[in-house]
Amino acid sequence: MSEGKYLVGIDIGSSAIKLCHLKDVKGRRTLVKFGYQPLPPQTIVDGQVMNQGAIVEALNKLYADTKERLRDVALSISGHSVIIKRLTLPLLDAQQLAEQIPWEAEQQIPFEIKDVHLDYEILRKRPEQGQMDVLLVAAKLEELAAIADVARQAKLRPVTIDVDAFAVQNIFEVNYGLPTEGTFALINVGATLTTINIISNGIPAFTRDIANGGQMLTEEIQRQLNISFDEAEIYKSASPETLTRGAIVPSEIPKIIKQVVESLAGEVQRSLDFYLATSGEREIQQVFLTGGASSLPELGAAIERRAHCKLESINAFREIQVDGDINQDLLRQRASQATVALGLALRRDREKR
Ligand SMILES: Nc1ncnc2c1ncn2[C@@H]1O[C@H](COP(=O)(O)OP(=O)(O)OP(=O)(O)O)[C@@H](O)[C@H]1O
Ligand SMILES: [Mg+2]
Repeated sequence: MSEGKYLVGIDIGSSAIKLCHLKDVKGRRTLVKFGYQPLPPQTIVDGQVMNQGAIVEALNKLYADTKERLRDVALSISGHSVIIKRLTLPLLDAQQLAEQIPWEAEQQIPFEIKDVHLDYEILRKRPEQGQMDVLLVAAKLEELAAIADVARQAKLRPVTIDVDAFAVQNIFEVNYGLPTEGTFALINVGATLTTINIISNGIPAFTRDIANGGQMLTEEIQRQLNISFDEAEIYKSASPETLTRGAIVPSEIPKIIKQVVESLAGEVQRSLDFYLATSGEREIQQVFLTGGASSLPELGAAIERRAHCKLESINAFREIQVDGDINQDLLRQRASQATVALGLALRRDREKR
């Protein structure tokens, strides 16, 4: 997986676009460009691009702000447009597997096979049982085309399109390694999407995207206090630096945060319970949390309490150096939102798979 030059990782999320570019400096991965550009509300709704122009404009601005020159990019998709399944198959050789995959996809994927791009990877061979575990990914061609198209309009060249949950897994692996034993969950809570990836004995065992995230909290604050989206955002992420001098957080806010966070944590818990019930495993040992909404301490606490396991925020920069030219304040403020873009930035233009 280590040939060629790094691509620019671009995560087009529903709240903002994040850009990361890595270089190897003295043998260490180093972040040399970082950009963050918020998107106007309703630019992406339910994973669908509603306003191409706003995305193209934001991409142009990101390139101008960061003075990025490389146009070869790694993008990602997530949500309804991707289905990920782990298959258990008899031991097959490469040719037999290639022939078998479309048949398996017919059974496992709720879309017409002609409408999807199929990708697969052998996770593990288990000769003792005469079986192998294969990861099958089906991505809707229409969504792939839509994201590639918007990138091309901004004069970018999409080289790779990954899946959010696997971008998180890749950057996690670089920073923490993948334990070969035990079960843990990587959870990325964004604005409108929460991706869950459960890794068991070193390989992905279950992924699910929940169509909910931190924006639900912004909208609830907005509704209950009858204020604008932007004001609600400020109250929600209120820290001494983000509040303008003299501003006071309305007393209702903590209660609204508690309510919404409980409901989000409840949805996460249902997915974890579903995994435990279907896999027959007894417990998830640890949850690693990331994404913009993971900056809410109440969310981690609620998931930890419900899942009865240790919870830790992912530090995606544990093993990544940061170049001195990067805007450190911006990066510090947006670090939890950068995880997917940083995972995408690990991808290279020529990869051995
Ligand atoms: N300090 C903070 N405290 C609370 N919430 C925050 C903070 N910083 C960001 N957020 C929230 O995080 C969310 C954005 O996170 P992120 O950038 O991971 O999402 P996204 O990738 O744009 O969206 P999605 O993946 O859901 O399409 C927003 O709802 C924002 O309000
Ligand atoms: Mg996201």
